[in-house]
Amino acid sequence: MVELSLPETLRWQNNELSLLDQRKLPAEIVYQRVDHLQDAWLAINNLTVRGAPAIGIAAAYALALSMRAREQLGKADFISVLNQNAQYLNSCRPTAFNLSWATRRICVAGQRQPTYQGLIEEAVCIHNEDLAICQAIGKHGAHLIQSGNNVLTHCNAGSLATSRLGTATAPMYEQHAAGVKFQVIVDETRPLYQGARLTAWELDYAGIDVRLICDNMAATLFAHNQIDLVLVGTDRVTANGDVINKIGTLNLAILCRHFGVDFYVACPSSTFDANTPTGDDVNIEQRPNDEVLGTHAAKVRAFNPAFDITPAALVSGIITEHGVTTAENLSRFLNDLQ
Ligand code: MRU
Repeated sequence: MVELSLPETLRWQNNELSLLDQRKLPAEIVYQRVDHLQDAWLAINNLTVRGAPAIGIAAAYALALSMRAREQLGKADFISVLNQNAQYLNSCRPTAFNLSWATRRICVAGQRQPTYQGLIEEAVCIHNEDLAICQAIGKHGAHLIQSGNNVLTHCNAGSLATSRLGTATAPMYEQHAAGVKFQVIVDETRPLYQGARLTAWELDYAGIDVRLICDNMAATLFAHNQIDLVLVGTDRVTANGDVINKIGTLNLAILCRHFGVDFYVACPSSTFDANTPTGDDVNIEQRPNDEVLGTHAAKVRAFNPAFDITPAALVSGIITEHGVTTAENLSRFLNDLQ
């Protein structure tokens, strides 16, 4: 089993939830306690915790915690408050499918066992399962990374975006542990620098050879045959296989097609949204202008969509805990899982 000594993305100890504040990384390692539902809403919305699976785990604990003082309610009222709280949490980041997937699981657990303890047990289960899923993704995707390869990734689909190991990074950690030598090229990922602050930091922390690039340098590296594979995570995969991921992912998929490089996506099967037909049907989160403008830009208006849609036709394969699938095989793959 691959072991990482990185700080945990989130902690559940003594009935308390703490989140590693990812806005402060890599300068400071600080945990923030989350006591109230409103704290969780804000922490997910302001990216204290981010990355689809980590958002789901944090939301599961926060939703369960919100029902701690509600056990005196009758079953119907308990379930009604639980559903309301879930809806409220789902609104904090609309694009990541794992958020509503996780809160739905807590609501279903509440139907079965309407107690605080029952909900917490389900949240712990979601948390533990995520680690096993990331390990399996690592095993299924490892063969894509060969000795001497340069692998390009975008944003952070790393350990910090999950319970541990990450999705896109899991095959990297797997191969690194097996002694395979390769380099990871990390897009800095404007406007919030998840690549520069989080991915470059966590891969370097683990001893993987990393090179950081500005987002606008990728095409030049492709043109000079310096990219062998692109491997990214995703916030949602729709029924037709469209991939929604951090803004800038689509650029890489187009570059891959132009230069004949494989474009792979890694995610848990809980990221598949089988009820949404295509990427165009997904609510893409729009974030505040100041994230783009920073402190040095002229005070103009900006565009700030947090995610883009990569058409299924540009995706070479999707690595999951159950193996690798393609858009053409997706409906059979999802049917087999049921
Ligand atoms: O806005 P963020 O930082 O939450 O965006 C994260 C991503 O785009 C990740 O690639 C995605 O959530 C997959 S995480 C395993």
